Amino acid sequence: MGQGDLEAVVAIEQLNAKSPWSKKQFLQCVEWTLVVVVDNIVVGFVVVVGVVDQAELQNISIHPDHKELGLGEELLDHVINGLPKQIDQIYLEVRVSNFSAIRLYNKIGFVEVGQRRGYYSTEYGREDALLMSRSLC
Ligand SMILES: CC(C)(COP(=O)(O)OP(=O)(O)OC[C@H]1O[C@@H](n2cnc3c(N)ncnc32)[C@H](O)[C@@H]1OP(=O)(O)O)[C@@H](O)C(=O)NCCC(=O)NCCS
Repeated sequence: MGQGDLEAVVAIEQLNAKSPWSKKQFLQCVEWTLVVVVDNIVVGFVVVVGVVDQAELQNISIHPDHKELGLGEELLDHVINGLPKQIDQIYLEVRVSNFSAIRLYNKIGFVEVGQRRGYYSTEYGREDALLMSRSLC
């Protein structure tokens, strides 16, 4: 992601996320963010942070007009295949109600390794997170 992609990334986040990241949060993650571009327009992004031998998928989003076309899966495959060799495990957290994301993660080999009670806020109270992981060995 370049600085010029920031507005588009924030706009996609606002459209899709229940608790959207701020522009400042994205600015702090510029070096870990990849965007997907179709016809010169940013239509999605992924944020993956690597620390020593582990990586964390912190955010992924595809613009509503471009969902269910395979872009989310392609973007994740691309970023995972590009991780440094010393990274042998990737983790993520996802709302238990986010069926489309959970199906995507299951499809590309993530498995549930735990739950975090009341991790996310919702308009009705709190919601659990699934903790998922995939081995890269
Ligand atoms: C989750 C998300 C990134 C998926 O992106 P996408 O480009 O629409 O997904 P793809 O087209 O690549 O689909 C890949 C797989 O994901 C699953 N999937 C995607 N959308 C789905 C839906 N609406 N219902 C069920 N499964 C779905 C399917 O397993 C699909 O494979 P299939 O087509 O062979 O069935 C997208 O829905 C999104 O941006 N959601 C809002 C943001 C979000 O929730 N991010 C995750 C935060 S943890």
